[in-house]
Amino acid sequence: MKKSEFFFGQDIISLDQFNRKSVEKVFATASIIKKTSAKKLLKILQGKVVGLLFFEPSTRTFSSNCAAVKRLGGQTIEYQNPLLTSSVVKGETIEDTTKMIEQYCDAIVMRHPIVGTLKKVADVADIPVINAGDGIGEHPTQALLDMYTIYEKHKRLNNLKGLMVGDLLNGRTVHSLIRGLSIFPNNTIYLLSPKQLRLSEKDLEEAKRRKIKLVEIKSLDEIPPDCHFWYWTRVQKERFSDKQEYEKLKLSFILTKKLVDEKAGKNTLLMHPLPRVGEIETAVDSDQRAVYLTTEPKNGMYVRMALLKLILEK
Ligand code: CP
Repeated sequence: MKKSEFFFGQDIISLDQFNRKSVEKVFATASIIKKTSAKKLLKILQGKVVGLLFFEPSTRTFSSNCAAVKRLGGQTIEYQNPLLTSSVVKGETIEDTTKMIEQYCDAIVMRHPIVGTLKKVADVADIPVINAGDGIGEHPTQALLDMYTIYEKHKRLNNLKGLMVGDLLNGRTVHSLIRGLSIFPNNTIYLLSPKQLRLSEKDLEEAKRRKIKLVEIKSLDEIPPDCHFWYWTRVQKERFSDKQEYEKLKLSFILTKKLVDEKAGKNTLLMHPLPRVGEIETAVDSDQRAVYLTTEPKNGMYVRMALLKLILEK
């Protein structure tokens, strides 16, 4: 797909598909949607059906996509566990499931545990496909909502200093967000993870070819002052074959109120894609810089509404 061809009828599989212009188009559309009356929005996807197929569990991505379709006047076909509830259980291939869903729907939103499956599904499908997370690969719509949240706060996506903490090896939201921020110049991201969960060598090498500077740090003490955002992530239990190793690593870095008081700047956004499983103290939730329970998930719905509008409305 050519970047200039965005958006009508296109798949959203990776942040690599985006450029500055297309990111700004998503943000402008989301901002208009935010201000538009609920009644007017209902016309946008009137008569359209979107298939939501989640082969991995989800709270936010499933619900916000579902809400996005419905708030735009469309309808959904929903599979929250196709491995139990669809004919996949009888041995149907992902290709055949895709061909069936496209007989009934105008777009597919899919999450799958295997990296690369969404690309395969998009290649098979004659309708647009949105990647809602493919294993440890990418989660492009999460990155766009995170970028939109940063943009709303700091009014730009260049010249930013950010911190990413946790499971950088397995965190698909991290992989997409780094790609997304690399579209804009002069961004520096500090990376903090247990050494077993560092960003892969491949991703570190890839970043060198992009406009983004990645700096690995080893401890909370090394967090630089006045970051524009801190992006905490959970250690992903479901990606570990050795559960003892997971137990050892899961709480390597905890976002505490004390840490926020000592190290965060007055404008540092405290972000997390969620779910959290102990790596953020609940005492941080009421901090006015914390957006993981409020602005991020809400923006997720608006950004997904924007993407659906751009992809499906002629
Ligand atoms: N951020 C995110 O992908 O959350 P869910 O797994 O709940 O969809």
